Amino acid sequence: MLTRARLIATVFASAAVAGWSCTSHLTYYQDVQPIIEAKCEGCHNPEGIGPFSLQTADEVIAQKSLIASVVPAKVMPPWPPANNCNAYSPDRSLSDAQITTITEWINQGAAIGNANSQHTAAPTVGMSRIDYSMQMPQPFTPLLSPDDYRCFLLDWPATTGKYVTGFGVLPGDAHIVHHSIAYVARPAQVATYQALDGADGHPGWTCFGGPNGTSTPNAKGGGFGSLATQWLGAWAPGAPGNDFPAGTGVLVDPGSKIILQVHYNTSSTPPAPDQTTVNVEVADSVQKPAYVMPFTDPSWLQGNMAIPANAPDTMYNYSVDPTPYMGLLTEQLINDDAPFTVYMSALHMHTRGSSIQGRIDKADGTTECQLDIPQWSFNWQGSYTFSDPETFSPGDQLYLECHWNNTAANQPFINGVQVVPHELNWGETTEDEMCLEVLYVTQ
Ligand code: HEC
Repeated sequence: MLTRARLIATVFASAAVAGWSCTSHLTYYQDVQPIIEAKCEGCHNPEGIGPFSLQTADEVIAQKSLIASVVPAKVMPPWPPANNCNAYSPDRSLSDAQITTITEWINQGAAIGNANSQHTAAPTVGMSRIDYSMQMPQPFTPLLSPDDYRCFLLDWPATTGKYVTGFGVLPGDAHIVHHSIAYVARPAQVATYQALDGADGHPGWTCFGGPNGTSTPNAKGGGFGSLATQWLGAWAPGAPGNDFPAGTGVLVDPGSKIILQVHYNTSSTPPAPDQTTVNVEVADSVQKPAYVMPFTDPSWLQGNMAIPANAPDTMYNYSVDPTPYMGLLTEQLINDDAPFTVYMSALHMHTRGSSIQGRIDKADGTTECQLDIPQWSFNWQGSYTFSDPETFSPGDQLYLECHWNNTAANQPFINGVQVVPHELNWGETTEDEMCLEVLYVTQ
């Protein structure tokens, strides 16, 4: 007997043969849920930093008009790199096909579909294992609103040298931990940071642009501290943590400490105690020891990076072939005058930055883009691992270009008051700027 459902199915089947557009009738469970699960739920869950949850069909449908505006505009998911520069893994962005699926589904009326046809999301790649979990020694409740950048000193448990081969962060209160960056304080640097720790009567210390964030405002040339402190990794919500490129790792000596910089944002939930954990995977040896190398124009650190008040677009750029000095730049890990491999890039400016790009200008005239952030956002910093590592050879140039907008409209708020534009220069505080690329390199 031909039931009504059977009849409809038959009509749809012949439509499929005829190629009618109604064959592409999209449903939540069949087409949209796998994308939302993989690319949105890491932040949009009841505990996450997203302002609402997107875990159920009803929750997604309730937000469909906002989703229809932010997804095609590429505002969500937050993914600052330009897509014509380089390929990264992991990559939080949506493909054009995924954007079309979401917008078409909403245009077609956001049908829910059959929960039984639910797809299972592709497994997210995380760290292969966790060897050390290092928690903030005490809970901390953000003091500054809406953004507080705070550094904490975590004990490093190993008593012999270990290579960090994977990195992840487990937020204590995922409502407010917006992003975080971990650094290594070498044994000789530990005392400096211990002196900052707790000095204002609260755990840790305020550290806006990097671990030395409490240095005097506008201290010209005072910003070298953070450059001498090794980056270990950067993390944003939704990232399960990841292994470093196979066979590589960053040496951490016994007696070191980990500095965890946490960006707290309390614009959608009130400040609450947080105790975040850094997870690492370690190895006793690796094939290729890695170095996290800062790259910038040394003369900017001397105060030669003046950004005039009210200027809408001030640009500084710098290029250099660092191969003659690689030993010096990497504590002798990489040989002078030899090719080296670049796996990862992170770019860093402060709040008046408008765009930043790092690339390799090859000796043969070609260019290899590393990372291009066309609309800089201080609140969405990260490190990006290249899908294919790049080789830098003697004769090539590393190139860095930064732009700033120092007009009244692009000033940060300090304690609720927007700063009046003034001349900026290199330094560590909100009142200063930086232009820096951080590269993960091996021989
Ligand atoms: C890395 C974390 C993160 C991921 C991943 C993410 N969001 Fe968001 N989303 C946020 C935060 C935080 C906000 C609040 C606004 C802000 O801070 O930019 C937000 C805001 C929104 C808004 C409200 C925008 C407005 O104008 O009010 C929508 C809609 C949204 N997200 C949809 C999505 C969708 C759809 C995805 C996946 C395709 C996604 N988000 C992935 C963190 C995230």
